[in-house]
Amino acid sequence: MNIRNYYSLLDLNTFKVNVSAEFYINIQSENDLLKLLQNTSHKKIFILGGGSNILLTRNIKGLVIHNQIKGIKIKTETNKHIIVEIGAGEIWDQVVKWSTERNLYGIENLSLIPGYIGAAPIQNIGAYGTEIKDVFQELKAVNLKTKKTHFFNKFDCQFGYRDSIFKNKLKDKFIITKVTIKLSKINTLNLSYKAIKKELEKVNHKRFTSKDIREVIIKIRKQKLPDPKYIGNAGSFFKNPIVNQDILNQIKNLHPEVPFFKNNDQIKIPAGWLIEKLNWKGFRDKNCGVYNKHSLVLINYGNASGIDIVNLSKKIKQDVNQKFNIKLEEEVSII
Ligand code: FAD
Ligand code: EPU
Repeated sequence: MNIRNYYSLLDLNTFKVNVSAEFYINIQSENDLLKLLQNTSHKKIFILGGGSNILLTRNIKGLVIHNQIKGIKIKTETNKHIIVEIGAGEIWDQVVKWSTERNLYGIENLSLIPGYIGAAPIQNIGAYGTEIKDVFQELKAVNLKTKKTHFFNKFDCQFGYRDSIFKNKLKDKFIITKVTIKLSKINTLNLSYKAIKKELEKVNHKRFTSKDIREVIIKIRKQKLPDPKYIGNAGSFFKNPIVNQDILNQIKNLHPEVPFFKNNDQIKIPAGWLIEKLNWKGFRDKNCGVYNKHSLVLINYGNASGIDIVNLSKKIKQDVNQKFNIKLEEEVSII
């Protein structure tokens, strides 16, 4: 195990912010992790996955543990489903690819989401009507203080919209080492999103597989989200706000076309619409800006600092609050 000093994190965060870790270590196995935790004197520890949901505003003090624990292990298999345990450092989209290539169902709608599977339960990743909680069985995690291993089931994780116990009560307290999910062998496609149906209508056959849906989702996502390989970003910067009927009515009076989604008494308005309505789409302030194909995505044109991006996000938040009386909440973790 090799601890590096003043290690650059430039290529390890998708916002492409140029900061460094005071100490950095790449961990490949659970055993190495436990050994490290037993022997380390570092009090400050930051866990890094694929770096696709963080905005780094400073050099990181203490030890950055880059969790690269690998492995995909089938634990149970019946004629209806399989239960798979996956190392936290596996790349999420490779797991989706693995699943669709085996004609398994459950995570195809989550295709092309960057990052590692270890971070997926933290914000309960979601897209196109599916969230990881829908296939989640349990996760294994080490308590950073006691160094003991714990298992968390779905109930323990307290999943919500882009939320879990690991963003609240247990924030920064555990390092997730394994995630177990249940995939179906039976065709259980979730085609509830209009954009998916529209794409499928163009294809000349009726029975679709998870692999077909993966291809459709990849196509849709590529049309509106920037590829972090070329443009620094962390996906949606804010969550879509949940509003009450009064706020919706006030906005409707001025903008009858406002899109909104009702689910179990909750009303969600797309933050991207609110931001676009206030003319931020395509806005550029020196080194950072708002993506011109999707206003919920803030981008780094090259040399922006984390602080530059935070300052832009604050201006947008303030504008949305003043004009629509809605307080946007960050989805990205600002460090
Ligand atoms: P990181 O950014 O490395 O970490 C995120 C947080 O989790 C940090 O606080 C970190 O300390 C903590 N963490 C990471 N790994 C562990 C671990 N093993 N144990 C404990 N804590 C840990 N998200 C969606 O939900 N839906 C989308 O459709 C979506 N689309 C995106 C599109 C783009 C282009 C981008 C750049 C991002 C998108 N995201 C989306 C956000 C992001 O990809 C997900 O949140 C992803 O799960 C983050 O994984 P990561 O490994 O990169 O986490
Ligand atoms: N819209 C605009 N202008 C824009 C962007 C969006 O008006 O510039 C409006 C449109 O009305 C559009 C609606 O917003 O129909 C919804 O847009 P989109 O389908 O792109 O989805 P989103 O609500 O912006 C959410 C997630 C995404 C996820 C997609 C697909 C959040 C915060 N974001 O985005 O997740 O991929 O749905 O399900 O919930 C992420 O979390 O990083 C992320 C990319």
